Amino acid sequence: MQLNRRRFLSAGAALAGSAVYAGALPGAFAATRDKVRIGMIGTGMRGQTLLRELVRRDDVEIAALCDVEPIMLGRALEQIEKAGKPRPATYGQDRDDFAYRRMLDEGKLDGVIIATPWEWHALMSIDAMQARVPVGCEVVAGVSLQDHFDVLDTQLKTGTPYMLLENVCYRRDVMAVLQMVRKGLFGELVHMQGGYQHDLRAVKFNSGDPARPIGGGAEYGKKGWSEARWRTSHSVRRNGELYPSHGIGPLAMYANINRGNRFTRINSFASKAAGLHDYVVQQGGKDHPNARTQFRLGDIVTTTLSCDNGETILLQHDTSLPRPYSLGFRVQGSKGLWMDINRSVHVEGISKPHAWDDFALWQQQYDHPLWRKHGERAAGAGHGGMDFFVIHAFVEALKQEAPMPIDIYDAITWSAITPLSEQSIALGFQTIDFPDFTGGRWRSRKPIFAFDDRY
Ligand SMILES: NC(=O)c1ccc[n+]([C@@H]2O[C@H](COP(=O)([O-])OP(=O)(O)OC[C@H]3O[C@@H](n4cnc5c(N)ncnc54)[C@H](O)[C@@H]3O)[C@@H](O)[C@H]2O)c1
Repeated sequence: MQLNRRRFLSAGAALAGSAVYAGALPGAFAATRDKVRIGMIGTGMRGQTLLRELVRRDDVEIAALCDVEPIMLGRALEQIEKAGKPRPATYGQDRDDFAYRRMLDEGKLDGVIIATPWEWHALMSIDAMQARVPVGCEVVAGVSLQDHFDVLDTQLKTGTPYMLLENVCYRRDVMAVLQMVRKGLFGELVHMQGGYQHDLRAVKFNSGDPARPIGGGAEYGKKGWSEARWRTSHSVRRNGELYPSHGIGPLAMYANINRGNRFTRINSFASKAAGLHDYVVQQGGKDHPNARTQFRLGDIVTTTLSCDNGETILLQHDTSLPRPYSLGFRVQGSKGLWMDINRSVHVEGISKPHAWDDFALWQQQYDHPLWRKHGERAAGAGHGGMDFFVIHAFVEALKQEAPMPIDIYDAITWSAITPLSEQSIALGFQTIDFPDFTGGRWRSRKPIFAFDDRY
């Protein structure tokens, strides 16, 4: 099996930089495997959710785990033991931030999942790709614009497969809408909206108690636990669309971004920051030391993108104010639209004029073949089942040595929205050019995401 993996990776490296290659061998060389050895870097809250999906698969061996926080590593090991799976090699118990490099060198891995804080994603992905270990990286791909260019460059030079584990692309309604878009029900796409509208205040602050990662305090940084340890500091020092891929991923698939279409211009506007300070005072009182923190992240960051084919896309990042969760999707074309906030569709000529249809009726008709096939297996998986599909896609692509369905160009283009939006805001909300990360290949690349029920 290892021989097989090395063969395809070295052949991939030779092809790197060619117009077609961005994640796996072309079909002529493809082979299949029954089982893959997976390692995981970062076994925190997200890592443990993904692990749940991995341990229930017979085609995955969890070969190695790495985390620098012993409690998180212990919880992951417990999960594996409970599932009756063999104990993997472990790294990071010595709190060495670079223990993962030993895992990559020694693990004989067919793939690695990276579920660490954002600031580690680019370096860990680069190290893994250089060690010829295919990467499944949690969102985001990197922090700075340079990170994004470096990850892209390494993927193209090494040819090591890379997938961004963007799960919302696999949401059941999102995939049904993909079917509707592809069948032309909305006509020609004109405008789309989405974003990350999720009250994260109780994620950004807690008491630091490992038994209670959500809420119950006003601590962040070293005194916080889980995401409060690292995510909150991004709200202190950065102002931009900090988490674009849950919104832009599905919309980019609808618009065939990097595959016949591309983003051309971007701007972002940021509101004032009031929500996090209010929350700290509410949780810890006005004399709590964190009540003196100045948060740079605007509570509502609104980003607009233009596309080469003439569509506009609006994204909203809204994580610091009280609100029910909604990704705020809207997909609108010359014949109709879908909105997820009211779970409704209107299609001219089919819906009553000026009236909404309940999306549930359309959902049944346009349910994606992947959901029809695997819906039962996905039941109970994280985030309403979509976590099953994102892991399934990564594992199947590895086994079949097939192109990653959310590949390096998708990852970099979606994730680079963050540093570009930060630039726009820093320039007084200016509209700036969106780089063509594909180097012109977007013109000839064909859409590959979820065209059948394989992965
Ligand atoms: N796709 C989704 O729906 C979704 C949901 C939640 C989180 N996420 C993403 O998953 C990632 C992890 O988030 P989380 O909620 O698990 O955070 P977390 O803080 O609970 O877990 C991160 C883990 O990484 C470990 N870590 C930090 N530095 C390390 C290093 N150098 N080597 C090894 N381990 C290291 C930490 O000890 C921690 O256990 C983030 O990128 C987040 O945005 C995605």
